[in-house]
Order: sequence, then C-alpha cells, then structure tokens
Amino acid sequence: MKSVRVGICGLGTVGGGTFNVLMRNADEIARRAGRPIVIEQVAMRRENPDCDTTGVKTTNDVFEVAHNPDVDVLVELIGGYEVARELVLTAIENGKHVVTANKALIAVHGNEIFQAAHEKGVIVAFEAAVAGGIPVIKSLREGLGANRIEWLAGIINGTGNYILTHMRDEGRAFEDVLAEAQALGYAEADPTFDVEGIDAAHKLTILASIAYGVPLQFDKAYTEGISRITFDDVEQADNLGYVIKHLGISKRTEAGFELRVHPALVPKECLLANVSGVKNAIEVMGDAVGPTIYYGAGAGAEPTASAVVADLLDVARDISTEHRYRVPYLAFSGIGESDNDL
Ligand code: HSE
Repeated sequence: MKSVRVGICGLGTVGGGTFNVLMRNADEIARRAGRPIVIEQVAMRRENPDCDTTGVKTTNDVFEVAHNPDVDVLVELIGGYEVARELVLTAIENGKHVVTANKALIAVHGNEIFQAAHEKGVIVAFEAAVAGGIPVIKSLREGLGANRIEWLAGIINGTGNYILTHMRDEGRAFEDVLAEAQALGYAEADPTFDVEGIDAAHKLTILASIAYGVPLQFDKAYTEGISRITFDDVEQADNLGYVIKHLGISKRTEAGFELRVHPALVPKECLLANVSGVKNAIEVMGDAVGPTIYYGAGAGAEPTASAVVADLLDVARDISTEHRYRVPYLAFSGIGESDNDL
C-alpha cells in the first residue's frame, strides 16, 4: 500500500497540532484514507516543545519541501501573504497537492492559486482556513451542494468572540483578554487582523465564494472590527436585552452579493448570542434545506489540525483509484491488499 507523503511547512500552533494529530491517530487515519499518511519532512524556524520530531527529516527552508520529490502533499501552515503564495505556487508547479489553513492567502490570492492548480491537475484544500475545526467548507460544497444559498451569517473569529465573551462575563479590559487569547494561540501573528475584522473578512470572502459559486472578492467586503468596543457598550447592550457579537454576514441582494463584517447587537435569546469563548457558529440558509447551523471550536492547535488532517484524508481518497466513494470506514474495502499509485 503506497503512503501519502506529507511535507509540513510551519511547526507553530497549527503545524504542531497537525504533526501531533497525524502521529497520534496514524492508524485510524490510515484506515479511513485507505492508505497511510506519513510525515516525510517538516520545515520549521524553531523546535516546537509540544512536538517530538525525533526521526523526522527537518529543514529550516520551506522551499526545500516544495522541491522535495518525496513529498506528495505540501501542508502550508506558515501564514501570511507573499512567501506563502510563492511557496504554494512552487509546490503546485512541482505537481504537489496543497493543504493550507491560510485564509489570508486564499482570500487574496486564491483565484490565481486555483487556476494554477487546475492547470497542473492538483488539489488545493483549505477547510482549516475558515472556522477552525468546523467542517463548514465541506458542508457548503458537498452537503448543501443542491441548494441555492440565500444568505449566511455567523461568528467566524474565535479571538474576537473570546474577547467579547470575557469582557461581558468577567468585566475584564479588552487588552487583558486579547493578551490571554494570544497566549492560548488563538490570535493571528498580527492580532490587528483579529480585532479589526480583517481575519473575519478573509473567512467571509471564502465562504461566500463557495456558497454562491463566484470568484473570491475580498476587496468587496465591508470590514469593521471590535477594537473600539468598551465595557460600557457591552453593559449597555446587556441592559437592553442584547449581546454584542462580531458577525460576518453575506447575502444575495438585487445589487449583487453583500459581504460585511462588523459588531452587531444580537438579541439574547438568539442562538448566536449564546456562542461563547473561542467557539464559532455559522448559520446558512439554503433554498431546499432551509436554515442550518455549524458550531464548534474556531481556533486553536488541535481543532484547526482536525480540519487540516481531514483535508489530507480527502486528498488521499481523491488521488486513489480505489477509494473514491468516500465510504466512512475502509476496513472492508481491501486496505492492505493493493498497491495504489498516486
Ligand atoms: N485568529 C483566528 C481566530 C484563528 O481567532 O479565529 C483561526 O482562524
């Protein structure tokens, strides 16, 4: 049985989580994928104390992974725009599939990357780019594939929701809770992306593109964050029967698709008002299915790794000749008996 050989670029919060989930659940993952998924190489700037890389080939040059002929799938977890773009395009050019958690990269350079992948016949998967461990991309693309999506709305930045929750529940200052979210590994490298709404706008751009089947249009998003929300605002809202939540909202209008992220007053009895801490939740309205909701951890090492590894499973199945039908368990489908080529 030929393995799928993975090169992980970046061993920070999400990279470390991905490394550990792949190692810990290797047998379970191999059964589901129909073949082992092995870590061929890791590129990192420094050791991650949570990861035991003994016996794993390491480098400090991410481009070494993109050129490594023994790597089938490059996992891009370095974040940022330009180096990540060059890295992913290099990997695609070299015929590698790509899995990424980088919402900034997909929202801003996704159209170019998808075109390059299409021309090369490789897969680019990015479930972890939106809402951490919640499989909302797969739900929109697959589970709701029959629907005309009318609108979607939700809490799509874990750090922002963590800050608003703890300001409200504990009366703590904005900066104090932000520092805690950073220490927990929820915030972006540049936390202004979280508190100024840019991270949520990246994610909303991706969701809308999949929901409506249109190109990514980050420039169209109205973007406002939570950095000017004070404890007084939170208290006033509470007295009036509302909770302040930072929402991403997209809907069809006569003028086209609307994309906006901003703080909103949500009535206390609404579901979204009760989504606390780092959790995300997204409501999606489809014309056939009606309203649906997706809820779970929106950030953090292993929740996000869960989505990265799910994409690796998809890649493993999609490139397999035997396991295209995505049966939930492959124990009875001949694992170990054949020698599939990639
Ligand atoms: N900084 C992001 C958040 C990480 O807090 O939601 C997950 O995308």
